Amino acid sequence: MISLPLLTYGAAVLTSLVCGTSAASLVQVKDFGANPGNANMYIYVPDKVAANPAIIVALHYCGGTATAYYRQNNFASQADKYGYIVIYPSATHDNNCWDAATTATLTHNGGSDSLSIVNMVKYTLAKYNGDSKRVFATGSSSGAIMTNVLAGAYPDVFAAGAPFSGMPYGCLAGSPGSSPQSADPICANGQKIYTAEKWGDLVRSGYPGYNGSYPKMQIWFGTADYVLKYQNFVEQVKQWSNVFGVSLTKNVTDTPKKGYTKMIFGEGDKLVAYSAAGVGHFVPTDESSVLSWFGIAP
Ligand SMILES: *[C@@H]1O[C@H](CO)[C@@H](O)[C@H](O)[C@H]1NC(C)=O
Ligand SMILES: *[C@@H]1O[C@H](CO)[C@@H](O)[C@H](O)[C@H]1NC(C)=O
Repeated sequence: MISLPLLTYGAAVLTSLVCGTSAASLVQVKDFGANPGNANMYIYVPDKVAANPAIIVALHYCGGTATAYYRQNNFASQADKYGYIVIYPSATHDNNCWDAATTATLTHNGGSDSLSIVNMVKYTLAKYNGDSKRVFATGSSSGAIMTNVLAGAYPDVFAAGAPFSGMPYGCLAGSPGSSPQSADPICANGQKIYTAEKWGDLVRSGYPGYNGSYPKMQIWFGTADYVLKYQNFVEQVKQWSNVFGVSLTKNVTDTPKKGYTKMIFGEGDKLVAYSAAGVGHFVPTDESSVLSWFGIAP
């Protein structure tokens, strides 16, 4: 006589054999805590989640959703392999763009989207015994701008960031909105040009009194980006060079693919930047380089 638990187990094995895929899926989490930005939380927890999993926050572009971004990149399927958890937040205002303009979002514990996202992280850390030293952020376009916001306002929460085609932390500060429809176009047009020191001061203003280290940054941008001008790459690089006190050590051409130049700053452990020749808006996510930067994959 086969016991019921065994049957259930057998059915699960059969399902996975038949489908050949994992049973995990993207699910919405309704009550993750205070939600000043009114963002929605979706999460992907692999079937074989690690005992003390890393957490990646993956942030969509303007007009995007958690579901669209989940389908667009491979962070979830790689989670099946490496056992980390992916949080896909979903913006609900300003044409589904992330707030990168208000003082609230730019300030540690100030509110808006950045605090909503951090509360999603705290919920996940507690519920899944997550590793608070391995919380990471990545995103595309508006999600890349938000990655810089999170790195500046919550350096205590995030260990690393990987923005694809974003803007520096604080570029949109004081703008009436953060979407192409609502934002002051000065940043998108690449006309906000500051010294490295001033950009660094902006980051340091996100969490006054903070003494700890900042998340290491891997910055991606295309030279043929006509949505956010290439100057946004130059300004991001200046900003994080100042925060880390590093300067360009060397360029490595055609890395990780033809036409991409990898710029190594200092010893390459705090800041690297990828300039993608001829690539527009936005640079496609390079999951393997990101997972390697986050220390998850070799
Ligand atoms: C900075 O360091 C001081 C002295 O160690 C500590 O009291 C303070 O809480 C720290 N500030 C922050 C924001 O971590
Ligand atoms: C390194 O590469 C960047 C991006 O292509 C370029 O702007 C810069 O001039 C290069 N610097 C050196 C020293 O080759």
